[in-house]
Amino acid sequence: MRRKFYITTPIYYVNDVPHIGTAYCTIAADIIARYHRLLGEDVFFLTGTDENAIKVARAAQEHGKHPQEFVDELAQQFQDVWKAFNISYDDFIRTTQQRHRMAVVKFIEQITRHSPDVIYPSYYEGWYCVFEETFYTDEEIVDGKCPECGRQVQLVREPAFYFRLSSFSEKLLRFYEEHPEFLAPDFRGHEVISFVRSGLKDVAITRVSKWGIPFPISHPESEGHMVVYVWFDALVNYLSGIGYGSDEPEDVEKFNRYWPADLHLVGKDIYTRFHCTMWPAMLIAAGLELPRCVFGHGFWNIEGEKMSKSKGNVIEPVSLANEIVSRTGCTFDRAVDAIRYFLFREVSFGLDGDFQRANLYARFNSDLANDLGNLVQRVLVMVRRFIGGKVPPLSDACGELRGLLSELVPTITQAMDGYEFSQALSAIWEVVRSSNRFIERRAPWQLSKEGRRQELQDVLRELLDVLSSLAIMLSPFMPSTAFEIARQMGACHLFDGWRWEHILRFDKLPDGLSTSEPQVLFPKGEIVHAGASQSAQEGEVRKAACEGETTMGAQYITIDEFKRLDLRAVKVVHAEQIQGADKLLKLEVDMGTERRTVVAGIAQEFAPEELIGKTLVLVANLTPAKIRGVISQGMILAAGEDKPLALVTLDREVPPGTKIS
Ligand code: MSP
Repeated sequence: MRRKFYITTPIYYVNDVPHIGTAYCTIAADIIARYHRLLGEDVFFLTGTDENAIKVARAAQEHGKHPQEFVDELAQQFQDVWKAFNISYDDFIRTTQQRHRMAVVKFIEQITRHSPDVIYPSYYEGWYCVFEETFYTDEEIVDGKCPECGRQVQLVREPAFYFRLSSFSEKLLRFYEEHPEFLAPDFRGHEVISFVRSGLKDVAITRVSKWGIPFPISHPESEGHMVVYVWFDALVNYLSGIGYGSDEPEDVEKFNRYWPADLHLVGKDIYTRFHCTMWPAMLIAAGLELPRCVFGHGFWNIEGEKMSKSKGNVIEPVSLANEIVSRTGCTFDRAVDAIRYFLFREVSFGLDGDFQRANLYARFNSDLANDLGNLVQRVLVMVRRFIGGKVPPLSDACGELRGLLSELVPTITQAMDGYEFSQALSAIWEVVRSSNRFIERRAPWQLSKEGRRQELQDVLRELLDVLSSLAIMLSPFMPSTAFEIARQMGACHLFDGWRWEHILRFDKLPDGLSTSEPQVLFPKGEIVHAGASQSAQEGEVRKAACEGETTMGAQYITIDEFKRLDLRAVKVVHAEQIQGADKLLKLEVDMGTERRTVVAGIAQEFAPEELIGKTLVLVANLTPAKIRGVISQGMILAAGEDKPLALVTLDREVPPGTKIS
């Protein structure tokens, strides 16, 4: 039987349109779902919208709309954006749908049957943040404000039903211990365990409100209109989205087939408390199996700041794609794939990231236009020009790139299995870059000129095979580009049949297949300036890369100008000489939340070995520049004018990433 794989995203509040943060989680789930489909598994991918929240009703009111009309419009907008971003979900659950409402009622009844005293009536008195939909204790609030969003909290006392979460600590701790794969990535697991160890408190699971799912049990001391607390309701979507709550045979079959979830993907904001504590406790109380894994990913900031409506820095995915189209001249689909690529290449999945337009365009130009786009274009142009646009026969003669692929595929597969997308993409790009170097070395134009036909055919066949393998490996990340590569090779009719296991099969393209007209995938775009020097951007390392623009004897700058510099303490984890450049070292530095590659012109004064482990100072917001083929993501500071005399270090240890001001 085919292995099943059930994956979910959080369901998003429809108080606002989708942004790059919600898109991030949804794209991640899409990458994983597509990868598991390529493995041949029976995948079910669920996403949806959380519509019963009081903040949703409030947003509707602000827009002068009835809540239902408002949520209908926004749920549609979410679906439109996901469509534009090629999100291959199997179902979209909305918590105002009847199927979900029925499931919540059934779930509560199931808990009361299976664990009779777990839900009990009482009174709730506590600090409530309407915006976060969360109650806080006296210790948690900060100066009368919500610890999450800083808004004023209200003291609320009302009849309520409680969920006896406090009685689940031991069971949860035992479960985590017996299922270490449940909490991912590892470092988030430690946080969950200490949260549960510190003691769990019972949770109020009703609210007095008109908007929401009516609580199915009546409170002995209240006739008020009680609805299910939005989190208790929302979590049940993972069940209702696959048929729980319905007696229809196909729903029952679907639920039995897919539950438990193999992966709940959520942001770190809703990881510990809701998905790793409350949700498994609710399932234990109902006597249902627990999910296999909850993965908590990091958050994106925007150009160094928290993304927020009040700061006006919220990025909407479709607007960003349109901006890329107008700046680079690529198609909308390529722009979408550029965003999908960037988000998962730039930052290790699980950690936080800082979204910088300059980095997006730098990667667009170097990784997508120069490396990938160029490779596809060159191969297909040469196939047309030198061998009549037909796939030449497979022969045993060559194998250099196939050998490289065989070496790298296990690494790529392992990275995909471990949700290490940045590592997977970096290994895939080794294939892309090696293929470009292979073209330079084997110079098919020369082979053609010298009439060495067999060699020419073998070289081009090998390159075509690599392109077809790249199409498979790229398809989870950049589905429309992967398809376009296959289409330009004349293989779009074969594409759907290709699986992950075919990456290393080199007979995917039939001999004699006619390739199509090559078209540019990623035209080189405009580079965005992030307040850094033009020369660095053009790929020239400054004399010593460490020199910078000094102000000695020059004009004064204001404190605000100085503040534009993002200076960070970074720890060198790797250093090596750049081949063919005797002044340049390539450094890999740990910046706390991410690793950066930096090119520094210090090779004549400092040996790579003496740098490893040192804490240096990095100008972290310098526009990335490509220097000798390496993208340098910042500049190391040093003393000295013509050459670096000493590196800037700190007088005591601080954690990597610490800001210097
Ligand atoms: N409705 C709840 C989830 C209920 S799930 C049973 C909710 N919704 S939300 O609209 O606020 O979306 C939360 C999710 O959006 C986060 O967990 C995260 O996955 C994603 N993100 C929101 N902002 C983000 C960033 N700035 N960066 C990355 N992801 C972000 O909470």
